[in-house]
Amino acid sequence: MKILVTGGLGFIGSHTLVALQTEGFEVIAVDNLSNSSLEVLDGIERITGTKPLFENIELRNKSAVQKLFKKYDDIRGVIHFAASKAVGESVENPLLYYENNLNSLIYLLQELQQKPAAHFIFSSSCTVYGQAEKMPITEDAPIQVALSPYGNTKQIGEEIIKDVAKVKNINAILLRYFNPIGAHESAEIGELPLGVPQNLVPFITQTAIGLREKLSVFGNDYPTTDGTAVRDYIHVVDLAKAHVVALQRLLHHQNLENVEIFNLGTGKGSSVLEVIQAFEKVSDQKLNYQIVGRREGDITEAYAHTEKANTLLGWKTELSLEDALSSAWKWEKKLEISKKPPS
Ligand code: UD1
Repeated sequence: MKILVTGGLGFIGSHTLVALQTEGFEVIAVDNLSNSSLEVLDGIERITGTKPLFENIELRNKSAVQKLFKKYDDIRGVIHFAASKAVGESVENPLLYYENNLNSLIYLLQELQQKPAAHFIFSSSCTVYGQAEKMPITEDAPIQVALSPYGNTKQIGEEIIKDVAKVKNINAILLRYFNPIGAHESAEIGELPLGVPQNLVPFITQTAIGLREKLSVFGNDYPTTDGTAVRDYIHVVDLAKAHVVALQRLLHHQNLENVEIFNLGTGKGSSVLEVIQAFEKVSDQKLNYQIVGRREGDITEAYAHTEKANTLLGWKTELSLEDALSSAWKWEKKLEISKKPPS
């Protein structure tokens, strides 16, 4: 019995492969290497002692997906991470996002619906809530019109899964992530942003290491305690473990409905300035930053109500914001060292 992990060499995928292998699951990692590297497999092997099976496959190619399922007829569950995720790029090139993110999902479900029973875990995002009215955000908060094609692919993806699960023997868990950050404590795997990072924490660590001159803090006129926007930053290692728990829930038929939705967050909101301060503390250095105007499309605050995940999944976060920032910093320093030629 194998578990297919699409986007397995990406940021969250690679940490989930580690969590799965640690729990004794046999995994197949699929990735098209568009935003990842084969070296990630070596990092996973160094942590777990096992190199995952790997297939370099384009999931938006239907026949490639069909071949994959023919080759491995013992796939029992799928954790689907593979997707394009740059918000700005999705606005510039919407069809790329609809093609990539939706076709891959459809082709995977087409294969799974032919099986007598299938278990499917989908990477969704708190972006589906937009600016929620009430904090912390519960899973039944209304879905808002997506601000970007990327966000829309997450909403449509959730709808597609719900429609298919109504009529086919597919059980699914939709996991809505808040803001995943950090790296494995070993610094063997972490986030590898392509080009200039759009997300806060990689931008902070790249600034601290000297790759960027300074961090721009987007807005200090939000109605929050210090005026900067608030998010729920969750350690990627905690997030990865939630996938294993969700998978076990499906494999043991503990799910109460054939599609369940869980928020994955810490339940605690942190402002941009609080993240900077925490980073300065764990890295023991000052960060060069300046306040600039708001970034278009940004919301004021988002943090998770975690009770559903805590009680039904029996999962809760164990690591702090400081743990996450210190692991991200360790990872950034490791990347820097690996770039330098041996002297
Ligand atoms: C972003 C995406 C979201 C996606 C998530 C994945 C947008 C609008 N949203 O969320 O759809 O699911 O990443 O992790 O892009 N910030 C700065 N300076 C920077 C970068 C960020 O001040 O250079 C601020 C932002 O304004 C925000 C916070 O830091 O308040 C977090 O930003 P980011 O890491 O990009 O995440 P989100 O915008 O929450």
